[in-house]
Amino acid sequence: TTGYTTLDPGFVNTASTKSAITYIDGEAGILRYRGYPIEQLAEHSTFIEVSYLLIYGELPTAEQLEAFTDKIRRHTLLHEDLKRFFDGFPRNAHPMPVLSSAINALSAYYQDSLNPDDPEQVELSTIRLLAKLPTIAAYAYKKSVGQPFLYPDNSLNLVENFLRMTFGFPAEPYEVDPEISKALDMLLILHADHEQNCSTSTVRLVGSSDANLFTSISGGINALWGPLHGGANQAVLEMLEGIRERGDTVEDFVKKVKNKEDGVKLMGFGHRVYRNYDPRAAIVKKAADTILAKLGGDDELLEIAKALEEAALTDEYFIARKLYPNVDFYTGLIYRAMGFPTRMFTVLFAMGRLPGWIAHWREMHNDAALKIGRPRQIYTGYTERDYKELTTR
Ligand code: SDX
Repeated sequence: TTGYTTLDPGFVNTASTKSAITYIDGEAGILRYRGYPIEQLAEHSTFIEVSYLLIYGELPTAEQLEAFTDKIRRHTLLHEDLKRFFDGFPRNAHPMPVLSSAINALSAYYQDSLNPDDPEQVELSTIRLLAKLPTIAAYAYKKSVGQPFLYPDNSLNLVENFLRMTFGFPAEPYEVDPEISKALDMLLILHADHEQNCSTSTVRLVGSSDANLFTSISGGINALWGPLHGGANQAVLEMLEGIRERGDTVEDFVKKVKNKEDGVKLMGFGHRVYRNYDPRAAIVKKAADTILAKLGGDDELLEIAKALEEAALTDEYFIARKLYPNVDFYTGLIYRAMGFPTRMFTVLFAMGRLPGWIAHWREMHNDAALKIGRPRQIYTGYTERDYKELTTR
């Protein structure tokens, strides 16, 4: 009854089948940005340097890094009318729709950088996004807590500026905690790119119609919000808190997951590509103990998380399905210890993923053979049939 016998070559979405940006070996648990192992970048690099690497393909020289940092620094402010944009949202809005709407609104405020075929405009929109997303993210948080917005302070670096705009007050000076800034910088590096994941494929598909960079990134933010994707870091914390509040034992909870009771999943576990430990999760777990000890994290929830991991890694159900912790399993505990509310966790994921999204959008546009993404389908509906008059139905 289907209309298909073989898959049409157009079935494969041509907007995202080749890329030189990120390499993943799911079986071996390998992740490399432009050839550099994630473990080395997490240890030695900075988020702004990794952003440069992903977007331009090489680690920057000192001059290139300074010029890149300076360009970004000069675009951290939002248009004053865009600041008022936040007044239209209810106080209890989740920050992700605020973020994706405000990022899309950049297409309205910065109409001089929308043309994907003009390299200068692509560069300008790239810099504007890298500079303004942290400001918008901080304002989305301030709106949710009813506190005044702070203007960026460009004597600080990108991450410090974000922390100050998020947690600072106009009434008093705000000292950025170097431990928090360093830990957040490393987490942003870990999230910076991940090949053709759901949100990156969305950015590429939207961009393949020649839609501008701002609106393509907004599409990626929407895809990321889903709890099966970037929204998982929020779902992990809600899962851990639920276990604690109900007084579940880890064994009880794992049993519920295995019986698929009410569709419950072990959030932060499993991955379409990794059939081994997600290398990012290993780095976060290793850092979690030290960072939480320094910042005073919620040890109880960390212990529940570790007990869940231990139970799952020795249980046939998870072993047979090659389910391991992914990047979202431990990150929320650190974000919480930094002072972020759970609903901001996926916003932090988006901030980290931004340079990857931009790199993929630019790579796709630099591909002369680019064609609009047009996935095909396997038709499973009715074969042809004749119209029935209303009186005969
Ligand atoms: C991210 O793609 C990327 O690269 C994403 C990402 C990135 O950096 O961009 O890495 C970020 O999105 C990480 C994933 C975050 N999501 C979660 O942690 C949510 C929980 N995980 C699952 O929903 C799931 O593992 C997915 C969505 C991540 C992957 O789903 P798949 O590959 O479609 O696997 P599946 O649903 O087909 O599962 C296969 C089996 C099923 O059991 P059976 O039907 O065979 O009995 O494994 C089970 C699933 O029920 N399973 C789980 C599970 N994940 C899969 N069972 C319990 N808990 C889980 N977490």
